[in-house]
Amino acid sequence: MTLQLVAAIPIGFDRVVARELRALGGGIGKTTVRAGRISFEGPADAVYRANLRLRTAERILLHVGEFSARNMTVWGEQAASIPWENWVPRGSSVRLHASTRSCRLFHTGAMHEALLEAMVGRGLDVRASDGSRDRRSTSPSCAVDIRGTADRFVLCVDTSGAGLHRRGYRKETAKAPLRETIAAALLQRVGWTAEQALLDPMCGSGTFVIEAACQAQCREPGMERSFAFEQFPCFDAARWKELLQQSREKLVADGGGARIEGSDRQAGAVRAARNNLRRVGMPAQVRIEQRDLADLEPDSEGGLIVMNPPYGRRLEAAGEELLSLDTWSSWGAAVRAKRPGWDLLLLAPAPEFARAFGATGKPLVRFRNGGLPVSAWHLRAGR
Ligand SMILES: C[S@@+](CC[C@H](N)C(=O)[O-])C[C@H]1O[C@@H](n2cnc3c(N)ncnc32)[C@H](O)[C@@H]1O
Repeated sequence: MTLQLVAAIPIGFDRVVARELRALGGGIGKTTVRAGRISFEGPADAVYRANLRLRTAERILLHVGEFSARNMTVWGEQAASIPWENWVPRGSSVRLHASTRSCRLFHTGAMHEALLEAMVGRGLDVRASDGSRDRRSTSPSCAVDIRGTADRFVLCVDTSGAGLHRRGYRKETAKAPLRETIAAALLQRVGWTAEQALLDPMCGSGTFVIEAACQAQCREPGMERSFAFEQFPCFDAARWKELLQQSREKLVADGGGARIEGSDRQAGAVRAARNNLRRVGMPAQVRIEQRDLADLEPDSEGGLIVMNPPYGRRLEAAGEELLSLDTWSSWGAAVRAKRPGWDLLLLAPAPEFARAFGATGKPLVRFRNGGLPVSAWHLRAGR
């Protein structure tokens, strides 16, 4: 059986996610990028492997039906022909995410009703989701994603549940955390591997450090969490158990001796990062120190510095001043003086901040984090 799947991805990182997807192997092949999503095919266990192993995708959807409809009668009939009983647990609350473009039908409330009717017609006792109350409850739920373009509708069932950035380790956050999926995608984008030393001197709650440590440990990001597909009536529990066992066998507990370090000037951030790291079975040599960037220890051996400095409205609202270009310039000077020979991955809210730091050329990628525009710059030592 071949499944049609869709990976929702962080904007700006389609090629990184596509490469990671293809590397999953095991019958997962051709990928097609379209409108911020990647379509791919795979065998029955591809749903489990993609959710368990992808570090960079936001969620995995299963394509369950596709049809043309210009009136609600046809829409309802087509929706009723989909074998929902394979994926929708009994007693589920059903959520709908729908978007339409150039479609005669655009009333998503009517689609939600027709969808529930279609499911009830197939013998399922389901009800409409009650929004946030249902998301907090432990009773089964199912999210259906509908995209309509020019009267053609694609229906998918969400297989992930909580977004894939929720790895289960980050229980504590400092200010303005980076999404785990984006941190992992950036590390992959610059080609970081555990043979290279890594330092985040403004580590906050430690997202970069922990993603790097997990990569060094070959720790699969979905090992410690649950997924929506575990509630599917067609769930193959034996195969899932096997895959989890393989994940445990792949773990390299000491991270292969990788040199990974984080620091931050705030005691609260250091505490959060250490606690988060402990939850992924921190390899002993991964250190988190309380230190101002100005006090960085000199090291000329080389490696990768990743930096996500404070910026933007969220920190301003939290009472911190927006930082001046002079501050960014002094950070750049400090890093170059203390760590010559180190490459740098720098995140900045606008190009002028990156240029004040010392960046030249164009950003590697532009994306959004927490609703704010960010650009990432890759500065190679000696260039
Ligand atoms: C945007 S946050 C980093 C968030 C982090 N990437 C995460 O995912 O949690 C910026 C961090 O820089 C730290 N910081 C600001 N100025 C600093 C300095 N001069 N030296 C060291 N850390 C500093 C702040 O305490 C804050 O935790």
